[in-house]
Amino acid sequence: MFYISFTQSQRIMKSLLGNASELYKNILFLENLFEFLAIKIPDIKYKGRLPSRTSYEIVFDNVSFHYPHNKQIVLDSLSLTLKARKITAIVGTNGAGKSTLVKLLCQFYNPNSGEIKINSTPLSDIDPKDLHQHMTVLFQNYIHYHMSVKENIALGSIGDEHNTILSAAMAAGADSFIEQLDEGYDTVLGRWFGGVELSGGEWQRIALARAFMRDVGFIILDEPTSALDSWAEIDWLDRFRTLCQDKTTLIITHRFTTARHADMIYVMDEGKVVEAGTHDELLELGGLYASSWYEQTKKFK
Ligand SMILES: Nc1ncnc2c1ncn2[C@@H]1O[C@H](COP(=O)(O)OP(=O)(O)OP(=O)(O)O)[C@@H](O)[C@H]1O
Ligand SMILES: [Mg+2]
Repeated sequence: MFYISFTQSQRIMKSLLGNASELYKNILFLENLFEFLAIKIPDIKYKGRLPSRTSYEIVFDNVSFHYPHNKQIVLDSLSLTLKARKITAIVGTNGAGKSTLVKLLCQFYNPNSGEIKINSTPLSDIDPKDLHQHMTVLFQNYIHYHMSVKENIALGSIGDEHNTILSAAMAAGADSFIEQLDEGYDTVLGRWFGGVELSGGEWQRIALARAFMRDVGFIILDEPTSALDSWAEIDWLDRFRTLCQDKTTLIITHRFTTARHADMIYVMDEGKVVEAGTHDELLELGGLYASSWYEQTKKFK
């Protein structure tokens, strides 16, 4: 049984890798390939179309969700808005449902009740292919690709010039360490094929550069700064703010020092939004955000 599913998986993997560029046009990073493979593509005629080159407002309206094989509620009557041209941050405890929310936004799953709307159109009316073309997602556990730096950054972006790769690397703050590698942008990464191994933070910057290769209206980053030290984090945030000025951006983070720069912060706990506001408003509120903020920053005092 295991063997059959293993060979099947191998076949699917091969065909996926064969169509890598096609795949990455649709979805940039997969947190869990097998979870993705298990998704049944419904035979649906989608009514809505997503206008390109516009700004997107995304609303979660009373959304509840549990995974298909587990009845435990993961999102519990959750409502929140990702405003156009703004950065929204979501913070919350482990298992609060943050990454699940991202999977729903990518249409990997549909809510059991409630609705997600994008510019007033129900997300379920939009063809996932159409949606994925207008968004960039950096999943929490993205894949490390064992190929050159250049290929790692350009993955899935068709016909990209060297200069575009360079600008994306600069935007992510990856350019300086790449230039120090023996073969620069042609250096092969990853130990599998005798390549160079990067640190967690460096891989994170490569992945960010990859995200910045595509000019899209909607960016989701799940834990983008987790492996960066505080100096690198400040540098990254500066670059990032300029880059996402005209986009709808969602950052999921455990770092309150990252979240504080967002225009709107939602605090999640057990599948619900428990607090919402700007950094100053949430400190004023004196709740979960405020106590976690003081807890996280006291070591710097
Ligand atoms: N594929 C899955 N199938 C079943 N349950 C899942 C699946 N993925 C996540 N869960 C469960 O859903 C809940 C929420 O998980 P999720 O990954 O969304 O949390 P999170 O807020 O992103 O946590 P973290 O801060 O650790 O990243 C957890 O209880 C988790 O065990
Ligand atoms: Mg998560």
